[in-house]
Amino acid sequence: MATKGIKKIAMNTGGGDAPGLNAVIRAATIAAADRGWECVGIRDGYNGLMTPSDYPEGGLIPLTPARVRGITHLGGTILGTTNKGNPLKYPTKGKDGKMYEKDRSDELIRAFKREKIDALVAVGGDGSLTIANVLSQKGIRVVGVPKTIDNDLEKTVITFGFDTAVSFATMCIDRLHSTAEAHQRVMVVEVMGRYAGWIALNSGISGTADAILIPEIPYDIRSVARKVEERFTGGRKFAIVVVAEGAKPKGGSVSVVSKELGRAERLGGAGERVAEEIQNATGRETRCVVLGHLLRGGSPTTFDRLISLRFGAAAIRALDEGKSGIMVALDPPTVRYVPLGQATRRMKTVQLDCDTMCTARDLGICFGD
Ligand code: F6P
Repeated sequence: MATKGIKKIAMNTGGGDAPGLNAVIRAATIAAADRGWECVGIRDGYNGLMTPSDYPEGGLIPLTPARVRGITHLGGTILGTTNKGNPLKYPTKGKDGKMYEKDRSDELIRAFKREKIDALVAVGGDGSLTIANVLSQKGIRVVGVPKTIDNDLEKTVITFGFDTAVSFATMCIDRLHSTAEAHQRVMVVEVMGRYAGWIALNSGISGTADAILIPEIPYDIRSVARKVEERFTGGRKFAIVVVAEGAKPKGGSVSVVSKELGRAERLGGAGERVAEEIQNATGRETRCVVLGHLLRGGSPTTFDRLISLRFGAAAIRALDEGKSGIMVALDPPTVRYVPLGQATRRMKTVQLDCDTMCTARDLGICFGD
């Protein structure tokens, strides 16, 4: 039975962008309009509601079927996003003039009431969905949609954006083979993924890398160097090593670029570190390529478009069925609903005994252990 009381819903996209965001927005907008609901998009995460005066054109974007025409295949997000405006840890100047992280969620709740928003579709990764969970506990009707190229969210088989990132990384690894072979070099490819090795693992296997270094297995560079040497002495005079940005040496720590107030630490430098260590250990010329944000850009793959459209429509069905405090999740062959709290409780990392890992081991791929 349709939920009584929904007249207006809001949608937002938070954290790093991922291919498929616009497809979610389109599906949810059309499905909401079909139910006679007014639909608005909050600009830049929650900023359009938290700091509306920053937006002379308005912090909310009216979303209609006409407004979301022709965006399914586009990367980025028409709503904008941010990984700086966490309302639970909002950078705020204290009386002493110093900056502090402050919980401003009550202000946000008041803004929802002021705008007469009856429900929220929050599209994001662990950070954004943790915020969504708090809003739901404070009485806002919320449905979450799992987004992240990192695929590190629990309770869903996959997040949208991941397939596009892995496909692009694999294509890059394919391209690096010829230049590596031509120059008899070791090529190190650093990929995103934060503290989970999914992108590195899946693209590394598909791109037939010789070694894959993931956060879940702290590496010993001597083991990687041995693998490289085996390749060269065995006649294959080049090697490809895929390094997750969160990879760390045994007994060492992840490479961090910066840590700012109100946002997660920025990772970077893992690939360069590994490249230098391999070159020192083997004497082989080694180059590093950082794929970084290229993994987040461009058009979503067919797979990502389809699950994004399915997630967006399912989020509206969930609201229509009176559900709240849940996230839509892929559980093939269907999309189901899981409690937001369960999805954000811990990070989904690579299980070392999973079939994909076993495949990699059977193929002789080195993990630096
Ligand atoms: O979570 C997605 C992600 O792309 C991570 O893989 C990466 O560490 C992070 O975002 C980088 O975010 P940004 O450069 O936008 O701060």
